[in-house]
Amino acid sequence: MKTALITGVTGQDGSFLAELLLSKGYEVHGTIRRSSVDFRERISHLESMDHFHLHYADMTDSMSVMQVVGKVRPDEIYNLAAQSHVQVSFDSPEFTADVDAVGVLRILEAVRLTGLADKCRIYQASTSELYGKVEEVPQNENTPFHPYSPYAVAKLYGFWIVKEYREAYGMFCCSGILFNHESERRGETFVTRKITLAAARIAQGKQDKLYLGNLSSKRDWGYAPDYVECMWRILQHDTPDDFVIATGEQHTVREFAELAFRNVGINLRWEGEGADEKGVDRATGKVLVEVSPDFYRPTDVVNLWGDPTKARALLGWNPQKTSFAELVKIMTDSDMAKVAAERAGESVRTNLAEYLEKGIVK
Ligand code: NAP
Ligand code: GDD
Repeated sequence: MKTALITGVTGQDGSFLAELLLSKGYEVHGTIRRSSVDFRERISHLESMDHFHLHYADMTDSMSVMQVVGKVRPDEIYNLAAQSHVQVSFDSPEFTADVDAVGVLRILEAVRLTGLADKCRIYQASTSELYGKVEEVPQNENTPFHPYSPYAVAKLYGFWIVKEYREAYGMFCCSGILFNHESERRGETFVTRKITLAAARIAQGKQDKLYLGNLSSKRDWGYAPDYVECMWRILQHDTPDDFVIATGEQHTVREFAELAFRNVGINLRWEGEGADEKGVDRATGKVLVEVSPDFYRPTDVVNLWGDPTKARALLGWNPQKTSFAELVKIMTDSDMAKVAAERAGESVRTNLAEYLEKGIVK
């Protein structure tokens, strides 16, 4: 039985990866952060399982990282913990650098200093944000990086320090350069989930309007459970290497919104341009989507499109397992059910949804 340690197990990817590794017979350890309230919604269904264990560790605290690595002595580490929101990285650039850049170094050093360098394989959650202000379309493993946010700059350090430890110490450490991947467990402030939740709430009369930023931004969106499978495949490969993980298909935020609203029975037509663009309900003429410059970023990455050829050829991974239409449907169906349960009083509406609606949280 292999032992895996997942940092960031409470996140979207961490929760799916924990499920995958448990299904493969792994002993799974995850790290959580201390806080005054517990937020473990995504992993609560795993907590009673015999082979699932939680430990406190914070990526900004070397001692806690060292302690958990030394105690668990894992065969594989999946370093998913990060301040993962691009807009938040403009507001908290120093914290983002501490967690997303130096945090990676802390993991690598913990493995080295506890004598695990020869035994432990490490996966680093790298990102398509490294391509940022893109220099080539689509992007592959040879495309030059041009990070375009404090988040991306921090992740760039993570990418290079992993490469450095691979070459300097012969460690089996790899980066997955993952393009955006979404799911029904996606955080509510990322654009896809913000849209599907709002579409469900508008369809059920619980919200009037959705405010978005750049509708023309393009992303290569995949389904998170397919992507965590690829993380595992990267660590099972014969040699340590870096891989682009993407679907090879690109859509705008506008297209995502149009499809999400269609799934809840609302057909939108678009009127106007730029900050004046609006999404209008064809049936009622009501404006349901508006642009708010509050959601514009100081520098925005607008043309991400990945080429997954290498991952398909060397890892046997299927980038098209879940289509774009299926992804949007999974998310809208889930949010329709969630909002219906809230309306029926079966679950309590989160404060976050309320804050989003009022524009307090971006
Ligand atoms: P997520 O849902 O935001 O999860 C991030 C996880 O990191 C959470 O468990 C969070 O814990 C934890 N974390 C944050 N700060 C921490 C700290 N100081 N110490 C310890 N843990 C900390 O992100 P995700 O979407 O699952 O993404 C997983 C990883 O892949 C991240 O590194 C992200 O940057 C990267 N990535 C994501 C995508 C994507 O499209 N999803 C694409 C490329 C790369 P709390 O629950 O306590 O906040
Ligand atoms: N969040 C958000 N909210 N984004 C909006 C909005 C809005 O109201 N309106 C338009 N957008 C645009 C953003 O400007 C961006 O161009 C795009 O939608 C996607 O934004 P996010 O969903 O926040 O994701 P991201 O691409 O910035 O970052 C995610 O993907 C990266 C991989 O490329 C995160 O998961 C990162 O952690 C990950 O590395």
